[in-house]
This record gives sequence, C-alpha cells and structure tokens, in this order.
Amino acid sequence: MAAGLVGIGRYIPEKIVTNADLEKIMDTSDEWIRTRTGIEERHIAGDDQDTSDLAFFAAEAAMKDAGITADQIGMILVNTVTPDKPFPSVACMIQERLGAKNAAAMDQSAACAGYMYGLITAKHFVEAGTYDYVLVVGVEKLSKITDWSDRNTAVLFGDGACAGIVGNVSEGRGILAFDLGADGSGGKYLYQDEADHIIMNGREVFKFAVRQMGESALKVIEKAGYTKEDVDFLIPHQANIRIIESARKRLDLPEDKVAKVISKYGNTSAASIGNAMVESVENGKIKDDDLIVLVGFGGGLTWGAIAMRYGK
Ligand code: ACO
Repeated sequence: MAAGLVGIGRYIPEKIVTNADLEKIMDTSDEWIRTRTGIEERHIAGDDQDTSDLAFFAAEAAMKDAGITADQIGMILVNTVTPDKPFPSVACMIQERLGAKNAAAMDQSAACAGYMYGLITAKHFVEAGTYDYVLVVGVEKLSKITDWSDRNTAVLFGDGACAGIVGNVSEGRGILAFDLGADGSGGKYLYQDEADHIIMNGREVFKFAVRQMGESALKVIEKAGYTKEDVDFLIPHQANIRIIESARKRLDLPEDKVAKVISKYGNTSAASIGNAMVESVENGKIKDDDLIVLVGFGGGLTWGAIAMRYGK
C-alpha cells in the first residue's frame, strides 16, 4: 500500500501587513527586512479569528480538493504551537465544526517541521490500513505570541493554515521516503518565554537550518532511490530567503524548481511548507507525477524531509 496526498488546501487571512507598516511601529526598514530575510509582507489574522478558524477553512479546502466528506476522515492531526488554548485541542475543535464524527483527533507540536511530522504520522496509519483518510493541518496564529516591540523577531512571522488529506495512492506515488529528527539541546535557541513571546537566537537557528535542510533533503532523495538530478521541485520551509537559497544550491537546482513564496507570507511556521505547496500546484510549478522534496526545520529543534511522487 502507498500513502500520499489526495487533496490539499490552505487558508490565509486577508489582512496584509507590509514592511512599510512595520517601519511605523518599530526601528526597522523595508530595505533591511527584504535583503536579510526576503520578506515583503505577511498576513495577520483578525482579533475575531483564532487558530482553529484558520485550521477549519484550510481543512474544508483540502476535503473539497480530495472529494471526500467529513465522515470519511479517520483521524485529524493538527500541528501548531499556537493553539486557541492548551485544551481542548484544535483538532477536536475542528472535528466538531467539520462534522468529522468518525475521526480521532489530536494536536501535535513540532513547530515549523510540524507539517512533516503530521504527514508521516498519517502515512503510517494509512499504510497500516487503520484509516482510509487522515486530515493533517499545519496552522499558526503567530501574531498572538509575537513581541511587537522586538524587531529581531516581529518582522519574520505571519499567520496562516495549510491542510492535506493523506490517503491511498497508486504504487510508486505518494510518500516515498522521509527523515524526521530532533535535537532538544537546541531548544534554548527558539522558544516561547514566560511572557508568551517568541525568543530566538537568529544566528544559531540560521546555522542549524542551513546545515540540516541540505542534509535532510539529500538523505530522503537517496532513501527514495534517486539522485538530486531527478528532483523536479523543492519546497523548503519559508523562513528566510538566504536559507532557501542555500538549500537550492546544495541540491544544484535552478531557480524555477524551488518554492519561494516567503516575500508574500513571511514565516508561517507549521503552515509554511503546505502553503508553498498549494501555491506551487496552483501556478503550475508542481505537476502530476513530479518528484518533489519537502524539507523543514523548527523550534525544538526539529526537522523533517519527505520525498514524494506527487499525485494519486
Ligand atoms: N530591522 C533592522 N535591523 C535589525 C532587525 C530589523 N528587523 N533585526 C535585527 N536587526 C539588526 C540587529 O540588531 C543587528 O544589529 P547590530 O549588528 O547593531 O547588533 C543587525 O541587524 C544584524 O543582525 P544579525 O542577527 O546578524 O542579522 P542576520 O543577518 O543574522 O539576520 C535573521 C537575522 C533574519 C533573524 C537571521 O538570523 C535568520 O533568519 N535566522 C533564522 C531564523 C529562523 O529561521 N527562525 C525561524 C525558525 S522556525 C520556527 O520554528 C518559528
């Protein structure tokens, strides 16, 4: 049995905050943000929208894309570090709202690598024959834990949600290989403090990301039985354009074979890779039967990569 994505979706809140908007509230500049991070604007959820609202709309879009109804979902996995509240889980909140009455539901926490962790958990349940369909959501409302007086972090993040339905696909398609990992000793470089704000040692995270993204991507390509020349498209976590570029160079890929959507969304953590994937499918960069590589890293520290033959 092979498991893969049979439907994908996303939800990005409407409100846009540009670099020029940030210049008005902190000591920063559009120039600095663009050149150091590649970010031009980000979307921020309204006060009336919490994480579960973003998750719900992305889940609906993925179900529609897969052509399934809520009662066919066997499990809901929501990856987030910004749940509405510690419990009930966001997964349970959207289970009720979707009417997914046959689904088990829980949240997972692996920061920006969360969507990778969710997809791999889902793959195992589907391949074992336990569930026909698992709904995986990557969602963050990072704006609620952003310290808007800290220019080191406030310029980097955005809100959003992505979702995927993992189900059975034809042999040779779907998730071919994965690499998940963690290094808890790096937890001190990126965490939420007592005041509920994001604290980050940018340089340490940057070094880790550059090393780990390249290694993990190459590992899954090899595990899947391919070489980097076979890769049709790379979707790196959208945290910093310079980190994305280093991953692209490590795989010797041309510019048009790498997802670069960070300029419009900033870093949306668990939503980042799935959002970039939806956009790349919509604009024709990912085509049916393409060999694609998804790779992310995040707080924990965590990382994850997947080699996938796209399509059912
Ligand atoms: N505007 C203007 N100046 C700034 C800003 C800003 N927004 N932020 C920092 N600076 C200043 C610093 O104060 C510093 O000034 P100083 O030299 O006078 O002290 C200067 O710019 C350079 O700072 P650096 O930290 O050296 O800048 P760097 O080039 O490393 O870029 C950045 C910083 C963008 C944060 C980078 O380190 C990075 O992207 N790191 C990875 C972060 C990341 O990916 N985090 C997400 C992880 S995923 C997750 O789980 C959420």
